[in-house]
Amino acid sequence: MVMDPKTFGLHNVSLFDFRGLVAGVWKPAPSGKTFDVIEPSTKRILAKCADFDREAFTIAIESAHVGYQEYSSSTTAKERGAILRKWHDLIIENLEDLAIILSLENGKTLIEARGEINYAASFVSWFAEEATRAYGETIPSSYRGATVMTFREPVGVCGIITPWNFPAAMITRKVAPAFAAGCSVVIKPPSETPFSCIALSKLALQAGIPSSCIHVVPTKDREASLQLATHPKVAKLSFTGSTGVGKMLMKLCSDTMKRLSMELGGNAPVIVFQDADLDCAVEGTMISKFRSSGQTCVCANRILVHTSVLEEFTQRLIAKVERLKLGSGLSPEVTQGPLVNAAAVAKVSSHVKDALSKGGLLRTGGKVPQHLDGFFYEPTVITGATTAMEVSYDETFGPLAAIFAFDTEEEAIQLANATEYGLAGYFFSQDVNTIFRVARKLQCGMLGVNTGLISASENPFGGIKESGFGREGSRYGLSEYQYIKSVTIGNTEK
Ligand code: SIN
Repeated sequence: MVMDPKTFGLHNVSLFDFRGLVAGVWKPAPSGKTFDVIEPSTKRILAKCADFDREAFTIAIESAHVGYQEYSSSTTAKERGAILRKWHDLIIENLEDLAIILSLENGKTLIEARGEINYAASFVSWFAEEATRAYGETIPSSYRGATVMTFREPVGVCGIITPWNFPAAMITRKVAPAFAAGCSVVIKPPSETPFSCIALSKLALQAGIPSSCIHVVPTKDREASLQLATHPKVAKLSFTGSTGVGKMLMKLCSDTMKRLSMELGGNAPVIVFQDADLDCAVEGTMISKFRSSGQTCVCANRILVHTSVLEEFTQRLIAKVERLKLGSGLSPEVTQGPLVNAAAVAKVSSHVKDALSKGGLLRTGGKVPQHLDGFFYEPTVITGATTAMEVSYDETFGPLAAIFAFDTEEEAIQLANATEYGLAGYFFSQDVNTIFRVARKLQCGMLGVNTGLISASENPFGGIKESGFGREGSRYGLSEYQYIKSVTIGNTEK
């Protein structure tokens, strides 16, 4: 049975919509097809979302191609900034409704969902300001009487493919800089959590984004969505998701030489050195490991602890983990929501079983709770983790804290870097020399030192190695949606 949105306590019920936005019209799929969106905390069908086909992507891309040319040539950067500012304000005005929709479809607790909506809004206000700072340069020319200048031009139509773990923030982190630059977007929202994207897009239209510049095409048809990687009128693809899918998209994009931003998988180490402030290290590990129930690409996956503080750190971590309360994200006392689906639960379960079969010691958690109906797994701590275990080389994407022991700094760095991924890393030390030395040696795009929280609109977000490339947020995020055009003006001495 599909649930009735009126029962969710939304003030603005029109934000909860199941249709797509194609060429300026909110509509169901012409075929009438829909797919089920499941509420992860109950396993019930939350709603049926329109399931579009290939044709819808073609129409959206064609419209977006006309749209960006009009939008970029008819607006100043300041005007685009003002539209984004309005969008930001509308997101904040509707924060509670957006948080409820997000919590229902993703399972996040309401506190986390409100945090994510604020985080999503922060990218919009950031790029509202950055829109006006797209400076070019003048360059001394080697030709007499000539001047070289650069302009930052919008790349054009941008395909946007986002994941379910941040249904709101991953939309705004890509779409706000695209609009700031003067681009248009065709978004394929995640099929697990399409409704936050739909709600945000309604507010974007209300703020004044032209309807030819924003298209939302929900689908479960993988072939249809691949149009974003193959259609010649898409100039850029921005993707957040798994490394495997990222590689496949990259190959497809090569035929039409699209610009790419790839924010892919991680395997983040946390290193707790001998001289760490243990309260700070435990707090930081809790945030980085259990944020969104362990389902962020910057979540700690391997916790490396110096043998001299191993037991003390572990005891303190367990005490905090055992205070986490599992349940529906909408219940006020709950601190950990469910995982996204049955496959996510199976993965955590398999990592735990594998670790225990290879000598790991279960310290707390370690099972599917029987008293809850949704996709839950108990927050779990395992000690004695080794590089032979799956958790050491595969991102769990769930609430398993696997603790490895080390004796020397060299060993910790070697262990931390022994992965093909390089997204985030964290370490805890109070020694200034250790901080500078280790920060330079860890191979990742983002580092948290004495903190587990690194995500913010001003911080360049992105990885190295097989975690992808490109930077989102920050002053670098805008240039991902621009190309540099050089203009040489010659013979000015005549
Ligand atoms: C992600 O998991 O893809 C994003 C995490 C973040 O922005 O903190």
